[in-house]
Amino acid sequence: MLNLSGATVVSPTRSFSGNLFDTEQAKILVVDDHPSSRLTAVALLSVEGYEVLEADSGSTALAQVVETNPDLILLDVMMPGMDGFEVCRRLKQDDATRLIPVVFITALNDRRSRIIGIEAGGDDFLTKPFDRLELSARVRYLVRQKRLNEDLDHAEQVLFSIARAVESRDPNTGDHCERLVEVGKAFGEFLQLSRAEIRNLIWGGYLHDIGKVGIPDAVLLKAGKFTPEEREIMNQHVLIGEKICKPLRTMQGVIPIIRHHHERWDGSGYPDGLMGDRIPFLAQVFQIIDIYDALTSERPYKLAFPPAKALEIIDEETAKGWRNPKLIKQFREFVLTTQTNAIVKNFTAQSSVA
Ligand code: SIN
Ligand code: FE
Repeated sequence: MLNLSGATVVSPTRSFSGNLFDTEQAKILVVDDHPSSRLTAVALLSVEGYEVLEADSGSTALAQVVETNPDLILLDVMMPGMDGFEVCRRLKQDDATRLIPVVFITALNDRRSRIIGIEAGGDDFLTKPFDRLELSARVRYLVRQKRLNEDLDHAEQVLFSIARAVESRDPNTGDHCERLVEVGKAFGEFLQLSRAEIRNLIWGGYLHDIGKVGIPDAVLLKAGKFTPEEREIMNQHVLIGEKICKPLRTMQGVIPIIRHHHERWDGSGYPDGLMGDRIPFLAQVFQIIDIYDALTSERPYKLAFPPAKALEIIDEETAKGWRNPKLIKQFREFVLTTQTNAIVKNFTAQSSVA
């Protein structure tokens, strides 16, 4: 690599972990109701250079985790009060603690405990008496894994932050993304899509227009009609969005939504002019939600249409060949059912007040 003065700059070498924080001392929480049982683990881990914390019950362990955010937990199974399985379940259900690896300490050959432990979300098992080398190898591996998972989590959060910044730059959107997320989830459930598909619809709600980060204000914020050149630039937002999200493996399911949310059923959309069922299904589903929300919300250039009017406009577009007629029919049913549910809900809420 050359810098401006022409001198060779050598990139600093570091181990291939991709994480700047790997030199930080890892914190291990040892949870066991018997002080003598904690003693061995604490001694072994301290010798390995870890910072070791201790808890003598399930409930103190949960409080300690919140307070100290450890990198790994060695967890005894049998404890009075809350047992280890319950502690693990609670940690794995909470977004703030789910990435912390949990290693259960079980008796040798306790098959039943291992199965319950796996179901509770445990990451590994160790048996007593500890084998020093095994303990150290497993702990090292899981701590490294946890930090890689955290990096991935951070990368996802960066994308969501960019998407939010884009939304705040675009006067057309307001709370558009939040509503898309809510309606996407509800319509996905109505269509009985899988959990993964619903997750992708939800992520699509936040990320579909992330590529607008690369569209100049002169185009993005233009009030009037686009010239053909401006239209060409605006259409790039789906390709830019795909490029931004592509490097992350966890984004693979959302990419079809990002790239294809402006295709049309008759092939007149962009960027690929895909026709009919060549358009990825989730992109078709997402597009309807996106359009319906745009129609039913106020924009700088228009008032909010009532649902019936919005459905009528979508029907006109379907008659022109732009949308999947079967899916539009399902969407209409969904809107009507949701409205009925909302009316019933309001009605029962009012009657219970009265
Ligand atoms: C949008 O993605 O919000 C609009 C794009 C377009 O005008 O085609
Ligand atoms: Fe878009």
